Amino acid sequence: MTRATGTDLVYLLAIIGFILALKALSSPRGARLGNRLGALGMLVAVAWTFSLPNVYGSTRNLVLIVVAVVIGAVIGVPAARLVKMTAMPQMVAIFNGVGGGAAALVSITEFLAFPDKGAIALYKIGEVLFGVVVGSVSFSGSAVAFAKLQELMTGRPITYPAQQAINGLIGVAVLALVGAVVGTASVPLLAVVLVLSLVLGAVFVLPIGGADTPVLISLLNSFTGLAVAASGFTLDSNLLIVAGTLVGASGMLLTRMMSAAMGRSLPNILFSAFGSVITAGTTEGTEGRSVKSGTPEDIGVLLAYARKVAIVPGYGLAVAQAQHTARELADALADRGVEVYYAIHPVAGRMPGHMNVLLAEANVPYDQLKEMDEANPEMPTTDVALVVGANDTVNPAANNTPGSPIYGMPIVHADEAQNIIFLKRSMRPGFAGIDNELLYDPKTTMLFGDAKDSLTKLVAAVKAA
Ligand code: TAP
Repeated sequence: MTRATGTDLVYLLAIIGFILALKALSSPRGARLGNRLGALGMLVAVAWTFSLPNVYGSTRNLVLIVVAVVIGAVIGVPAARLVKMTAMPQMVAIFNGVGGGAAALVSITEFLAFPDKGAIALYKIGEVLFGVVVGSVSFSGSAVAFAKLQELMTGRPITYPAQQAINGLIGVAVLALVGAVVGTASVPLLAVVLVLSLVLGAVFVLPIGGADTPVLISLLNSFTGLAVAASGFTLDSNLLIVAGTLVGASGMLLTRMMSAAMGRSLPNILFSAFGSVITAGTTEGTEGRSVKSGTPEDIGVLLAYARKVAIVPGYGLAVAQAQHTARELADALADRGVEVYYAIHPVAGRMPGHMNVLLAEANVPYDQLKEMDEANPEMPTTDVALVVGANDTVNPAANNTPGSPIYGMPIVHADEAQNIIFLKRSMRPGFAGIDNELLYDPKTTMLFGDAKDSLTKLVAAVKAA
């Protein structure tokens, strides 16, 4: 067996590992295994790559690679270990951005290394340009997304007159220059393409509101995958082509799923500057309306004597870091024979899988987790829907108020439960900045306060009931 065949076989094994990893990652039960399989595939691929003659045979290459690996590990490992769950989106943004930047650098390096630029096949120049443009857009776009989420700049959409027209012009200029580089193989023109692509990535992200950036990051992640696949073509590496395409396709699918779960189209998320009008924090139009609020003791009794309770978690659960206390409450109820399940909305919180990640951290049993579509048919037979720091994802305006910013978004039907309890600090709205009629429903009782404090009191009340 030649080394080339060995490489193909080992890379094929790594690719199988990546595909099985994605399959396992599609359910909370298999997620840990999926992570391990993906990491194992990557380890095998990297280890084999070190055995290739152009790596181990060149001291210069070997030293450069080892230095890069050490720098990456020294920065990446503590960053990944120390990052707070709520800061995960910006972490993904920055890791994704450097991936795109690396793909662009690989493409440029390969282009500069062609000895006779006049004789490069058109498709080769095409691969290089694709990697440079898409990788650079992903790099600078992710950097701005990181700055927004890390609050290094305002998270609100930054808009100015004729913004989309100007962005469109920059896009057209990039395409025209790409055509010119294909015709001339000119290095200075490639440098201009690089700079303009970096500008395009940044201005494309400016009008997108901080809270829409998770969807944007998923899209940029998909771009990075495509740029990596392009560098795979340039380097004749099947591994990079497949790995890049997997990232590109899964990023695109995730982007589509998130947009659908928010009831908004992708163009609306990317181009409508959602969130530029400040509405959050107002309670206008709500004065004079009566709201029923309860004590932890009364609500504890209601929960303790219920037959079936749904916990509906949202962004507030993440802010309060109340996942462990939510589990304690669920355990206390289950000990009394109450059937408990968690109703998970796909975009509850601020990042994909936010609630699943938090609840997995608290070791919530998987059979208690129900996705929205599975939970909704259970709601009419549920005695109490306990809404913990969720708001938009249970707001009936999504169903019955045409013109509302969330109209069309599928929701968890907490309104169909026999009783609804809201754990939140005030009457303030959620991310979409709109009032929630359900807070005023006669079936609703509010328990005001930080979700963790309220849940702690409810645990005590249930145990005492
Ligand atoms: P939201 O509608 O954002 O509501 C969260 C509620 O939590 C707020 O009304 C807030 O009320 C309450 N809260 C905040 N801190 C709290 C604390 N310490 N204790 C108790 N309550 C607290 O949340 P949701 O229902 O999860 O909906 C998510 C929203 O984000 C959707 O509109 C979705 O489209 C959007 N979004 C999601 C994603 C992803 S991928 N998940 C990405 C972008 C945007 P008080 O201030 O009164 O406490």
